[in-house]
Amino acid sequence: MDRYAVIGHPITHSLSPKIHTLFAEQTGETLEYEGIELPITSFETRVWQLFKDGYAGFNVTVPFKGDAFDFVDEMSERAKRARAVNTLMRLEDGRIYGDTTDGIGLIRDFTENLNWPIENQHILILGAGGAVRGVLDPLLEQNPASLVIANRTLKKVEELADDFPELTPCTFEELSGQFDIIINGTSASLSGQVPPLPPGLVNAGTKCYDMMYSKEPTAFMAWAKEQGAEHCADGLGMLVGQAAESFTIWRGVTPQTDSVIRDLRAGLR
Ligand code: ATR
Repeated sequence: MDRYAVIGHPITHSLSPKIHTLFAEQTGETLEYEGIELPITSFETRVWQLFKDGYAGFNVTVPFKGDAFDFVDEMSERAKRARAVNTLMRLEDGRIYGDTTDGIGLIRDFTENLNWPIENQHILILGAGGAVRGVLDPLLEQNPASLVIANRTLKKVEELADDFPELTPCTFEELSGQFDIIINGTSASLSGQVPPLPPGLVNAGTKCYDMMYSKEPTAFMAWAKEQGAEHCADGLGMLVGQAAESFTIWRGVTPQTDSVIRDLRAGLR
């Protein structure tokens, strides 16, 4: 039976084994999928060993997406632009192929689950780290009207804009005007914080999305509600969407995500 795993550190709370097991049941694919915690310092040797042990592919999560990018023999164009790899697969000739599916996971959540169109929308993204870099190409492919990107550290967001000239970079303090969509890609929610945003960015129709997910609404979602946003979502659907895309790369079959998101949400409660 083909074996897959998610590799990261830590890995105990990962939902990926459950998601891929549900995908396998849904599509009738025969596979095993588990979580493997790797020591922080020995990514390359451990992954080689796991491939030698017969694993067919891996999802890569925090903090190894950059290590995976350095590790692969070949990668997709979108992984090159994102400078990150979250999906590894052994090719028939033994070389290792890498791809990144986070951005497409976000797009699938917007278009298939939330029904939030991106085309012609004025979009604000908060943050300029690896998580944000990974979603920029897929977002730009949807032809938004504008893409403003704000970050605590101006230098970092300006560097990102060097690689993506379509972006308008700024600090949080410099933000003004209202947006159709605001996406939080900072890691502030992890510690229950919200970036210091000026008032007036949100109206009732503004759609607010946190790339993080949790049992309770995130701090960013609570902020959005306070500002009057009627449509908020967390990143659970993005997680399932990126998993679905990895599953497709490995198995050539695309699972449905909506029932899996519902099952996971019920389990989080
Ligand atoms: P990730 O892989 O999750 O993107 P990262 O590359 O470390 O992690 O990036 C974290 C992002 O969250 C950065 O944009 C960071 O801002 P800085 O570039 O100024 O460091 C942002 N961030 C983290 N904590 C934050 C907070 N409390 N308020 C605002 N932004 C925060």
